[in-house]
Amino acid sequence: MNVLAIETSCDETSIALVRINRKGNGAPSVSILKNIVSSQVKIHAPFGGVVPNLAKREHLKNLPLIWREFLKHPLVRKKDIDLLTVTVGPGLEPALWTGIEFAKGLHEAYFEKKIPLVGANHVEAHMYSFLLARAARPEFPMVSLIISGGHTILGILKDMDGFKKIGETKDDAVGECFDKVARLLDFPYPGGPEIEKAAAKGNADAIRFPSPMLYHKNYDFSYSGLKTALLYFMRGPESKKFSKSDIAASFQKAAFGVLVRKAMRACDEYKAKAVGIGGGVAGNKKIRSMLQKEFRLRKKPIRLIVPPFAYCQDNAAMIALAGYMAHARKKAYPLEADGNLGL
Ligand code: KG4
Ligand code: ZN
Repeated sequence: MNVLAIETSCDETSIALVRINRKGNGAPSVSILKNIVSSQVKIHAPFGGVVPNLAKREHLKNLPLIWREFLKHPLVRKKDIDLLTVTVGPGLEPALWTGIEFAKGLHEAYFEKKIPLVGANHVEAHMYSFLLARAARPEFPMVSLIISGGHTILGILKDMDGFKKIGETKDDAVGECFDKVARLLDFPYPGGPEIEKAAAKGNADAIRFPSPMLYHKNYDFSYSGLKTALLYFMRGPESKKFSKSDIAASFQKAAFGVLVRKAMRACDEYKAKAVGIGGGVAGNKKIRSMLQKEFRLRKKPIRLIVPPFAYCQDNAAMIALAGYMAHARKKAYPLEADGNLGL
């Protein structure tokens, strides 16, 4: 199946053409034929976060430009595309609507309604993005960790369609916490990659920040306490004694420690053979190495499946997967923006 997908949920405008082959109910094999992402980071950076109406304006400008590039692809012909899909949530509603309206326009004017147009869930797309990893070979049951600017979710995939959420953040998402802490450290937006860069030069054991809910028996997370701890630390005299690198490294250790510990506990409880991670924060090399280190302590092998860095960030290739899976299980999302769409 050749799937054309559109993503405009936040500050990246993206269109992708993805070929998906699936035998029965197994994991599909996926090849990305074309994927264009136009990032608005520079436009939102002066505001320290995404401004919804600016995002909408940029999506409206970028979508036809990207589509014009797609028309040059030999497979972008009415007869060669089997499914059209677009993100309907979660995300910023004004931004989501631009993608939905654009998809409806293409569906009618270009595809003459001859192929299905279905809604896709952005968080489900991050969950399935492990399929974009090189040699993904998923094995079930699999622990799935979705860590982005808007979500922190831990779940179990017993097969391709059987996702069960076992825990999530009770307040801020981990990426959101990185962005807020980066602001306290005077790093530019978006803060996650800046913290990773600084942390690589720092001592992670310099300061002990709290790892909230680390010892709680459930699989939930909380990041607002850690953010507040950083705020008070930065206001106090202690902060002058440490470099920003030490602070960043110590913060990162606390933020990831709880994710790693709970993911490993889930691996033990559900006898997972693999851990799939997705979302912007999954692009951080430290969380990968912390997980790998834990895997080496287990008797049974556990594999880490992470998409390449570019596919941890928002992109339409992963939307093609989510749209395809929703269509296959005949549970596609309606074509209406839903900012709070759940998983
Ligand atoms: O998945 P994503 O692109 O958008 C959402 O769906 O939210 O994730 C963006 C988030 C931002 O909070 C950003 O700071 C964070 O992912 N992020 C990182 C890194 N790269 C992006 N956080 C930590 N380390 C990174 N290297
Ligand atoms: Zn995302």
